[in-house]
Amino acid sequence: MNRTTQPANNIKTVLAIETSCDETACAIVRKNDDGTIEVLCETTATSLQKHVETKGIVPEVAAREQLKSILPVIQHSLEKAGLTINHQPSTIDAIAVTTKPGLIGSLLVGTETARTLAYALNLPIIPVNHIEAHPYANFVSEVPGSKFQVPNSPKHEAQSFPQFPLLSWVISGGHTDLYLMKSHQEIIHLGGTVDDAAGECFDKCARVLGFDYPGGPFIDKLAQEWQAEKVAGSQDHKVAKLPRPMIQEDSYNVSFSGLKTAFVRLHKELTTQQPDNLTTQQLLSFELQAAISDVIVKKTEKALAEFQEVQSIIISGGAAANSGIRTKLQQLTINNPHLTLHFPPLKWCTDNAVMIGAYALFHSELQTEWQKVSAMPF
Ligand code: KG4
Ligand code: ZN
Repeated sequence: MNRTTQPANNIKTVLAIETSCDETACAIVRKNDDGTIEVLCETTATSLQKHVETKGIVPEVAAREQLKSILPVIQHSLEKAGLTINHQPSTIDAIAVTTKPGLIGSLLVGTETARTLAYALNLPIIPVNHIEAHPYANFVSEVPGSKFQVPNSPKHEAQSFPQFPLLSWVISGGHTDLYLMKSHQEIIHLGGTVDDAAGECFDKCARVLGFDYPGGPFIDKLAQEWQAEKVAGSQDHKVAKLPRPMIQEDSYNVSFSGLKTAFVRLHKELTTQQPDNLTTQQLLSFELQAAISDVIVKKTEKALAEFQEVQSIIISGGAAANSGIRTKLQQLTINNPHLTLHFPPLKWCTDNAVMIGAYALFHSELQTEWQKVSAMPF
């Protein structure tokens, strides 16, 4: 059979699949003629609970769960969108799928499903690097009726969408990277972690406190409790100082491995003085969150000084949900009113298919034939 790829401007509706880790996600995302992007549906299954039981992700278990969920998730998405691809193949113009990075077994489930759909429906595939896609959660915005607007479209409202050039932080369990985005096609990597990612540091420190994966939300909650009590004046303003690694270094690189070691040492010190009680956990969580946020804000300030033309800052990835990072970046933009700050709704901070679909709509030139698509862990 002759399978040809369509010109990029013919790609208006994509079925997006994301299976890089423990989530099995499908979304159908459409770019309308009036410049709006409509999310027709989104369905996500997660095997997170299984990994909580084993205190970490077991790749084999994640892949098996992906296999169980992938077809029901796609079927559910199609039903929600009122589509039956068997009878209306032309309603979807391309299949977008995460091909890397991730757990190879999980990625294979998504890519092989995408390849099968593309083969059966004679559609192109848009392969997506899910780390590159994370920022695209900021380029769609939920409004009543599930309508989403394209930045710079005629309906664009000032300050609602990121403006180029912009600084983009991807802060996840495996990555902490800063990019300068001059446009969708011109993206420059400024720096990133030289060892552990911020999310990984949150997870490892949370484990020291006895919390299961993913530990970031526990640290965040405890830090907020400490902050609230400090503001209310019920704490005696104890100071537990953790280092801010590489904060003064003249580069955009960050390092969080030593911070984890310092956290372990401080935890030991504090718990020999008093039992490992809630107050100690709150204090340590607050300080850890402050240390990571300070480093991110300092590197952002450095980039703003170097690239004075920057209009917006966007953050994405699982740890972009962190309230400390959000608050400190908000303070930074209050002091720089020409800047806009954007972070996705919490559901689109972690891995999701909407960001994969949005990325694909902005990068439809990447479309290729199903034979050329393969899963790659890195
Ligand atoms: O992007 P993501 O879903 O998966 C990766 O690609 O890594 O990010 C997961 C990470 C985990 O390390 C998790 O602890 C962290 O995001 N995370 C948080 C918060 N919510 C999730 N870290 C800090 N504060 C949070 N509120
Ligand atoms: Zn991710």
